[in-house]
Amino acid sequence: MTVLLTPLDVAKVREDFPLLTHPFHGKPLHYLDSAVSGQMPIPVIERMAHYQRFEHTNVHRGVSALSQEATDRFEEAREKVRAFLHAPSVKQIVWTRGTTEAINLVAQSWGRANIQAGDEILLSAMEHHANIVPWQMLANEKGASIKVIPMDDRGVLELDQLEALLTPRTKVLGITHVSNVLGTVNPLKAIIAQAHAKGVVVVVDGAQAVPHVPVDVVDLDADFYAFSGHKLSGPTGIGVLYGRKELLETMPPWQGGGNMILSVAWEKTSYMGIPGKFEAGTPAIAEAIGLGAAIDYFNALGLDRIAAHEHALLDYATAELGSIEGLRIIGTAPGKASVLSFVLEGIHPHDVGSILDHEGVVVRAGHHCAQPVMTRFNIPATTRASFAYFNDRADVDALVAAIRKVQEIFGAESDDTSAEGQD
Ligand code: ALA
Repeated sequence: MTVLLTPLDVAKVREDFPLLTHPFHGKPLHYLDSAVSGQMPIPVIERMAHYQRFEHTNVHRGVSALSQEATDRFEEAREKVRAFLHAPSVKQIVWTRGTTEAINLVAQSWGRANIQAGDEILLSAMEHHANIVPWQMLANEKGASIKVIPMDDRGVLELDQLEALLTPRTKVLGITHVSNVLGTVNPLKAIIAQAHAKGVVVVVDGAQAVPHVPVDVVDLDADFYAFSGHKLSGPTGIGVLYGRKELLETMPPWQGGGNMILSVAWEKTSYMGIPGKFEAGTPAIAEAIGLGAAIDYFNALGLDRIAAHEHALLDYATAELGSIEGLRIIGTAPGKASVLSFVLEGIHPHDVGSILDHEGVVVRAGHHCAQPVMTRFNIPATTRASFAYFNDRADVDALVAAIRKVQEIFGAESDDTSAEGQD
């Protein structure tokens, strides 16, 4: 049965983003960089400001009504995250500073307790550095080794090799849900089932997935799932680690201090249960509440409507960019998310990014914290446009016009050079 969705009223949605109407280099701003960080809508900004104005003090401390109020708001936000991920319990939602810290937590706590010399850590070829470096650090410390699931020229994982890569020594698989460079959406459910059949724990980097793909950690059967607030139109400095209860309960704390203890004596300290034992120190309270407000905002728009809008925009952008001579799209997996990386023949992506910026088109240019992906495609960098629910065709048209301008500038430069060469 086809379910017809009312389309997003993008013009109305855009009213929630003051930055989008703010002149940039004297031109309209086209923000095509939501994969680097989402913009915060007014309701999220206002919710955080309200907390700071009227509700702030520390949480989980003190008997004052103010402290109780702040604690309630903070824990309500945790419940919003739980519901967003369809996790069974709020106890399985650990606040972190972001995806990077969440994965480091798993590597340092679960990993140090469970990985030994000779063990294998399996990663995919399209991981962000956040899901590579913590595992390399652990592997170096323990004498374990890293193996990699390769991908093809479209940016699709070569899963026919997964069975052989999951050896009796494999202890953990680290995999991204959606590639930040290629937009590939990995078939996680099948991958996780295959890993679990070999007793392998799966850690999912969900940073780029949560704004585009509905996530159900129970249905996926993920052992750990990490994401960052700022990719979801929330603030920076807050993120989430979801973990399977049995795993979190047996893991040791990774940072010590206030808030994570039951009692402290010189002889012995005992720790809180989950999630408190992983949350040492004063947390990012306003940011957690802001993330809760961002989840409310996404829910109100509807992730299915957001996904439909972004897919339509991606199709339009893919066709438009595809018509530009000398432009090659990097990442052409079927069903990909709204991330469009490309290279322009003869022009470095940093030059492309800088000229686009002067035209009011904000994109990211570089290796996108995924250098092994660049190596795989034999390129130094890409220019990446990433689309969110507030983008429209005018943003794509501005991108295309700006790319053509880059080519004109460089075409003119190379004409000059060849003219000089002939002198
Ligand atoms: N991980 C972020 C990106 O892809 C910073 O741009």
